[in-house]
Amino acid sequence: MARIALAFAVPLLVAACSDGGAPAEPATGPADAAAFAWNTRSGEAPLVIAHRGASGERPEHTEAAYALALEQGADVLEPDLQMSADGQLIVRHDPYLSTSTDVANRPEFADRLTERNGQTDWWVMDFTAAELRTLTARQVFEDRDQGYNDQYPVLTFVDFLDFVSEQEILCSCVIPIEPEVKLPGLYAEAGLDPLPALIDALEARDLNTEGAPVVIQSFDPAFLQRLRPETPLELAMLYAGPDEAGYDAGGLSLEQIAEFADGVGAYKAVLINPDGTSTGYLERAHALGLDIHVWTVRADRVPITGETVEDELRALYGLGVDGVFTDHPATAAAVRAAMAGE
Ligand code: G3P
Ligand code: CA
Repeated sequence: MARIALAFAVPLLVAACSDGGAPAEPATGPADAAAFAWNTRSGEAPLVIAHRGASGERPEHTEAAYALALEQGADVLEPDLQMSADGQLIVRHDPYLSTSTDVANRPEFADRLTERNGQTDWWVMDFTAAELRTLTARQVFEDRDQGYNDQYPVLTFVDFLDFVSEQEILCSCVIPIEPEVKLPGLYAEAGLDPLPALIDALEARDLNTEGAPVVIQSFDPAFLQRLRPETPLELAMLYAGPDEAGYDAGGLSLEQIAEFADGVGAYKAVLINPDGTSTGYLERAHALGLDIHVWTVRADRVPITGETVEDELRALYGLGVDGVFTDHPATAAAVRAAMAGE
């Protein structure tokens, strides 16, 4: 049911981005390995999607993380989006700030500490975008390199789009993005509906157009259904599995999802069993015209199948996922290249 296939038209251009900024040569990317038969819906090579940037090696959602992802051969950049008090989209995974920024060390914000739903923290929605841009980012995972903490500012979505535009000029290529709108219902209840902010930001860049290199993701089916008439862009319904309340696509079937979305962003275990065999979910999604972008492949975590992250990637690529969200784009790109015989 996918109405456009933009996500698979651009990697050839993006492949030129990983050469350190030189002008684009004729496309020479993984999809050129025509002899290799990928099981993706399009038959093209699967996309490497930088999950919050190269977040395994740099603080997530920073320019440093996104720049490293491009150097490592990522095809697509993912920003998660929250809302500020003044209605701007902010590039953060969590609605709170204590774990991913230096806010706790900022005395001028001490009185913003607020309890919400049993959690006392500093919340994105209580800060203006200007205030948030003064915060610096930190590595969220304690077992990852903390040496890049407090060097890079928190970004607004506009900052992120500016960064992408600058990188596109440097590489003379197109850099697709896959923004995820976080908690749209919560923000709408607070009078901070992210939908108009999203549309405005995209329209300001002429990106809310058919064929633009943008896929919008959300765990909230009602948000995607509301977004559907407002954009020709591809929409991805995020799905963690039927037993994950709040992350279960509202209990909608794949057939129902296909009525408003173009793909599913699925958790790994939705797709493959521990022995590496298919659950059948991807095949049913593909039959309905839905792409599958799987999350999240992490080189420093136990794989869901096999012994190594390379085993996990080979299983997912072999199954036929159309894209892989990964904290470690270099690993995902290397495995993909090896499978294609490059
Ligand atoms: O958007 C795909 C994946 O990132 C969903 O999980 O929590 O990392 O945003 P999360
Ligand atoms: Ca995400």
